[in-house]
Amino acid sequence: MAEYVQPRGTGIEGRIVIKDDWLGYSLELFTYPEHYHEDIESVYIPHGVIMDRTERLARHIMDDIGDHDMVVLCVLKGGYKFCSDLVEFIKNDQSTEDLHIIGSQDLSVLRGKNVLIVEAIVDTGKTMKALLKHVGSFEPKMIKVAGLLVKRVSNVVGSLPDYVGFEIPNRFVVGYALDYNEYFRDLNHICVISEIGKVKYKI
Ligand code: IMP
Repeated sequence: MAEYVQPRGTGIEGRIVIKDDWLGYSLELFTYPEHYHEDIESVYIPHGVIMDRTERLARHIMDDIGDHDMVVLCVLKGGYKFCSDLVEFIKNDQSTEDLHIIGSQDLSVLRGKNVLIVEAIVDTGKTMKALLKHVGSFEPKMIKVAGLLVKRVSNVVGSLPDYVGFEIPNRFVVGYALDYNEYFRDLNHICVISEIGKVKYKI
């Protein structure tokens, strides 16, 4: 399914690289909501693996940021599951007084703070680049980015997140809050959508 890749430089942690020929696990090997029976092709990354990897990322983040105050910025809606699981693991390690989770309120609270941006998937990196510029304008002390998935694409804009769960081939994936036209967010595993699913939920 995958191999481990060494960190590429200072501050960038290793990541699990899923190769181009990985088609995912047969649906028969896992449980998933029955209503998606025809709509997904395979289980690409099982929920348990996501959780284990997220726990490790939380540890990396704590090792780097330590006891310092940290503000977590979640990129909705796709990032909400990853963010809430990551924060749970961080909370087990850190006093919650030092951890602030904010939504779309006034970002001026970020001034002088350590900010962790949490995003489920980085594709071309355009969204993250724009967000980094915006967050940077509030003059935080430090900005780190955690991305659960990073796609292997040729037209990348910007740099890799500081913490990466998995590097995946350039395929459209759903589940674990990632959607296709608002469907599949309730799927626990990260899955590959089927042709039937694409047509059924097309808008
Ligand atoms: P980027 O700006 O090209 O990096 O795209 C990032 C955004 O595109 C993410 O925040 C997702 O909303 C969406 N996206 C990209 N690839 C996928 C995918 O495979 N599944 C679900 N959403 C995706």
